[in-house]
Amino acid sequence: MNKAVETNGECRADSVMLSDDAVKLIAEIEELKKQRGALIMAHYYQRGEIQSLADCIGDSLALARQAARTDAPVIVMCGVHFMGETAKLLSPDKVVLVPDINAGCSLADSCPAPDLEAFIKSHPGHTVISYVNTSAAVKALSDVVVTSGNADKIIESLPADEKIIFGPDRNLGSYINQRTGRNMVLWPGACHVHERFSLEKILELKKQHPGAHILVHPECPAPVRLVADRIGSTAALLKYAVSMPAGSEFIVATESGILVEMERMCPDKKFIPAPPTDSTCGCNDCNFMKLNTLVKLRDCLRDMSPAIEIDPALADRARKPIDRMLEISDRLGI
Ligand code: 13P
Repeated sequence: MNKAVETNGECRADSVMLSDDAVKLIAEIEELKKQRGALIMAHYYQRGEIQSLADCIGDSLALARQAARTDAPVIVMCGVHFMGETAKLLSPDKVVLVPDINAGCSLADSCPAPDLEAFIKSHPGHTVISYVNTSAAVKALSDVVVTSGNADKIIESLPADEKIIFGPDRNLGSYINQRTGRNMVLWPGACHVHERFSLEKILELKKQHPGAHILVHPECPAPVRLVADRIGSTAALLKYAVSMPAGSEFIVATESGILVEMERMCPDKKFIPAPPTDSTCGCNDCNFMKLNTLVKLRDCLRDMSPAIEIDPALADRARKPIDRMLEISDRLGI
């Protein structure tokens, strides 16, 4: 299949190989999408066939921005549950569908709102900064939300003596502490995908590909970050790869879905997925992200379900720190 898709104003040709069944399903999805007036959004960690038909693909920050500005009456968020919630918070009058309501996030699950509330009470006088990978209930307890694409700059923009609680990702938190010289109090959560990267296996790969650049997401533990040539959000890692000369090689330590867009944008470069510790397979996949399939995407558009619903009073509180993130990001030009 070869088709052009609008993504953030750019046109991209799809090079994902599709079976006949997939081509049929995609035709059904395109038809339903037209009938519903829907916008299909996909995170870089989605299956290739979903990325290939999405109207826009991006990292958490780009998807939040797109959800805030779309005119479409229906948004289908192909990602995990908190991404659907973020879209609903920013577009409360729209129907926000998710292909699989059980597509959760280990990081969001590592921070239940009642536990965070008690943690905040035990640290009076602290500003609460939450990563976007959190439930609406956790966002409602937060002062500012950040993504991996803007966390360090937003935190740097706060007064140097501001006392901060950062959660739930301890790895991203320690990375920001290191970069900014802050001493934020960290919630002890982690992403089950990024925690599984193995430094030994990355170093073995580096021996086989001595010229390869090591690309690392900041949700990875400190020893993996230490060997990185570039640390950044999925969009930042992609941008770095695009900026390197033809023939470059990259070892990629983030969820393997990002390789779809890296290979599409850089057909003249080589991308090697960094393997997890506990597997003989080369890729580190998020089982939650991969719950979304073409069949479920077709079904959710056909049935207009599952849809994200958030209690309006909770939504009002949870929206404020996201709006604050978008305002600060705009002001800082991120
Ligand atoms: P970004 O999309 O900000 O790179 O973060 C990835 C992620 O954590 C998705 O769960």
